[in-house]
Amino acid sequence: MGSQPWAFLSGKQIPLEEAKVGIMTHALHYGTAVFEGIRGNWNDDSRKMVVFRLKEHYERLIRGCNILKIFPPKDLQIKDEINTFSVDDYIEITISLLKKCGYLQDVYIRPLAFKSEELVANLKLHELSSNFSLIIIPFGGYIDNDKAINCQTSSWRRPNDSMMPTGVKLSGLYTNSILAKTEAILGGYDEAILLNDEGTVSEGSGENLFMISGGEIITPAETDNCLLGITRDSVIQIARRELGIEVKKRKIQRSELYLADEIFLTGTAAHITSVGNLDNRKIGDGNKGEITQKLQKIYFDVVTGKREDYFDWCTQVEIN
Ligand SMILES: Cc1ncc(COP(=O)(O)O)c(C=O)c1O
Repeated sequence: MGSQPWAFLSGKQIPLEEAKVGIMTHALHYGTAVFEGIRGNWNDDSRKMVVFRLKEHYERLIRGCNILKIFPPKDLQIKDEINTFSVDDYIEITISLLKKCGYLQDVYIRPLAFKSEELVANLKLHELSSNFSLIIIPFGGYIDNDKAINCQTSSWRRPNDSMMPTGVKLSGLYTNSILAKTEAILGGYDEAILLNDEGTVSEGSGENLFMISGGEIITPAETDNCLLGITRDSVIQIARRELGIEVKKRKIQRSELYLADEIFLTGTAAHITSVGNLDNRKIGDGNKGEITQKLQKIYFDVVTGKREDYFDWCTQVEIN
């Protein structure tokens, strides 16, 4: 069987071109949705799709759904908060769709849980119905990981969690990321780095941030309003296990970044990306740093299923 674009919507698999929602859909007007970005990395040796930390992605999706009272129904006939998908259900839906699509290349897996009620001028989450969709698309690089990229401190600030939940992937919040990314690209940079409301470092437009200074690896704390990134957590664990370095979580001042030996960004799409320049100042010698390179090499082996000791992070799917 060749590869074909299929989607999952309203409880069943359908051809992607038939997966549509109406113009009145609540999430389209108000951003009332939660999503995930998951990578499937094709391993040509084992002929398997290696899906990285699938369980953790769906755990984060469900955390976001609980905050937004999004309960996509498992049985379309029953309106009840308990009648919703579990992490295991989502994993099963994803594996089944991966097999159905049959892609033998790297893919991006995009689950979306959304307020599907076709109703506007109603801002009461508990009154609105929910749905779940899943699409899988062939996906290559997001940012060039081979080089050290050129970043700009954004004029946009990352909102505070007291304004909108920041630890989960809430669709409405991405207007902020998109404004920052667009500003950076139109200004001739590769990526934006956002400060938080307080003026300390939060993260990239779609990545968490790490700084290396005097042999220490430091990342902003969860309370600095960054997304609770799964790659961030993986890097923290890899640094401990492989390099014997305990990553410090603390506030980072803007000017500390200019003085850092190395900076790198982490994310499902961006993997580990070195930052060589920030606001027209060189970071280190402007090239990929030594620790960044070490982490990058281990991380790539892990996410492509080349490290057996990290198999518990990898769901390996046989595609026929
Ligand atoms: C704003 C933001 N920060 C950080 C990340 C990195 O998160 P993860 O490593 O879970 O992909 C992402 C990507 O999902 C993101 O969109």
